[in-house]
Amino acid sequence: MADLYPLARKLLFTLDAETAHHLTLSSMKMGHSLGLLKAMTGTCCQPSLLSEEKAKPVEVMGLTFPNRVGLAAGLDKKGEAIGAFGDLGFGHVEVGTVTPRPQPGNAKPRLFRLQEHDAIINRMGFNNPGVEEMLANIEHSRKGYPGILGINIGKNFDTPNEHFLSDYLACFEGVYDAADYITANLSSPNTKGLRDLQSAETCHELIRTLQNKREELMPHHKGKKVPIVIKIAPDLDEDAIRGLAEVFNETDVDGVITTNTTIERDAVKTHPRGEEAGGLSGAPLSEASTKVLALLRSEMKEDIPIIGSGGVMTAADAQAKMDAGASLVQVYTGLVYSGPQLVRDLAEL
Ligand SMILES: Cc1cc2nc3c(=O)[nH]c(=O)nc-3n(C[C@H](O)[C@H](O)[C@H](O)COP(=O)(O)O)c2cc1C
Repeated sequence: MADLYPLARKLLFTLDAETAHHLTLSSMKMGHSLGLLKAMTGTCCQPSLLSEEKAKPVEVMGLTFPNRVGLAAGLDKKGEAIGAFGDLGFGHVEVGTVTPRPQPGNAKPRLFRLQEHDAIINRMGFNNPGVEEMLANIEHSRKGYPGILGINIGKNFDTPNEHFLSDYLACFEGVYDAADYITANLSSPNTKGLRDLQSAETCHELIRTLQNKREELMPHHKGKKVPIVIKIAPDLDEDAIRGLAEVFNETDVDGVITTNTTIERDAVKTHPRGEEAGGLSGAPLSEASTKVLALLRSEMKEDIPIIGSGGVMTAADAQAKMDAGASLVQVYTGLVYSGPQLVRDLAEL
């Protein structure tokens, strides 16, 4: 598959981005269920990247990740293709963002490739099947997957910000049993007002509320303590990042993901699609998100791990995130442009 990807990409890029996305996911699911995906990624006659022989395990948040590379949230929004992404070699897969109730997301078109920039703009708006259906999908699609499962949670678009806590709590409680870690997404630019939840005060309130809920849930889940991770935006100024670092230190949150997509458009302003509303991801985001990571690392207690996301298009980009202090990295846009070989390269780090 690694060698076939340039051809597959050529075909996929003739389709509009969302159609290509659905076609890829359904082909991967089929390839996984027939055992072909592993064979095509070159792992049929060799041990899989997640097997004990090939894995390069790393302990983060008290969990053993088979390697440092994960799938970023938003690609498997329904939790329907976890095993298929495992076949590609991802040591962790983060599904979602899921909201308590199903919702269709924004009007189409809402996903754009900016090929000349190795970038994507999306304004999907948390299209997802809701917690209940996602859990049913996960039960089926994680069978045989030996990696770590993260579940990314958010709020419904029509839940007013004053009531955001009840949405995060409903998701947290709903997915607790299924998740190895849970990410609270406070940073999508495509749900009105969501990023306002990144104020230090609100973020503090959210973390404490989830931690209290966890205390309550643990005895009902054989003492299982699910790490709580916060995902932040790259568009925060330095004071805001310092303020959040203080909150993370004070609450001893389990981990932070830096970063989500950006609303900044400087790097792509000459592209015909450069002004589309939404979040920009891929190569133009790489440096800015690593900068946020580095500042947060310098302000935060050493034992709170950071997961680097944003413009990991090559092994060198991943290495830059690790040099800046990331324990793990995640990819989305890099997979669209480079295909499964990128995962194999990153799994070696
Ligand atoms: C089409 C698309 C949908 C996304 N949906 C979500 C989402 O639902 N939740 C989330 O936390 N991040 C979402 N993201 C952000 C990614 O998880 C990732 O943080 C971001 O794209 C930066 O990484 P990249 O440059 O490797 O793509 C989405 C990104 C894209 C491109």
